[in-house]
Amino acid sequence: MTSLLILNGPNLNLLGKRQPEVYGSTTLSQIEKMCHDKALELNVELTFEQSNHEGVLIDHIHAARDTIDGIILNAGAYTHTSVAIMDAISSAEVPVIELHLSNIHAREKFRHHSFIAPVSVGQICGFGPNGYLLALDAMLHFLGEV
Ligand code: DQA
Repeated sequence: MTSLLILNGPNLNLLGKRQPEVYGSTTLSQIEKMCHDKALELNVELTFEQSNHEGVLIDHIHAARDTIDGIILNAGAYTHTSVAIMDAISSAEVPVIELHLSNIHAREKFRHHSFIAPVSVGQICGFGPNGYLLALDAMLHFLGEV
């Protein structure tokens, strides 16, 4: 069975309360439920994690190396700052799809640059919570499972 990891970075635990005008009113646990429902439909084994700590996110990426077929990563603000997460992705040799709820290219200039993009299969942004479901489909297509 294909096994996928959805990994969420800092401040995403506050979804629903955090800047709803930017990120909407859906909570991270509601997104997690949507993803698990879709994973059941797709017959995918899904792990869903969130951490506010860069090192913990890196540990999850390393652990994925021999156990996970693909990672969907919303690295939050670390997207724009973290060479360490970029290096972890390069070292893990697991395909990554970069994901954002908001359209980072339509926001402040500092959000236009992503350290994750050059080491990712592709980027999905601007579709809110539905982006998580699009990313699951995209990863299965990339892995040749559909
Ligand atoms: C985000 C976009 C980032 O720029 C921001 O720092 C976040 C959330 C998104 O999902 O839209 O924390 O990754």
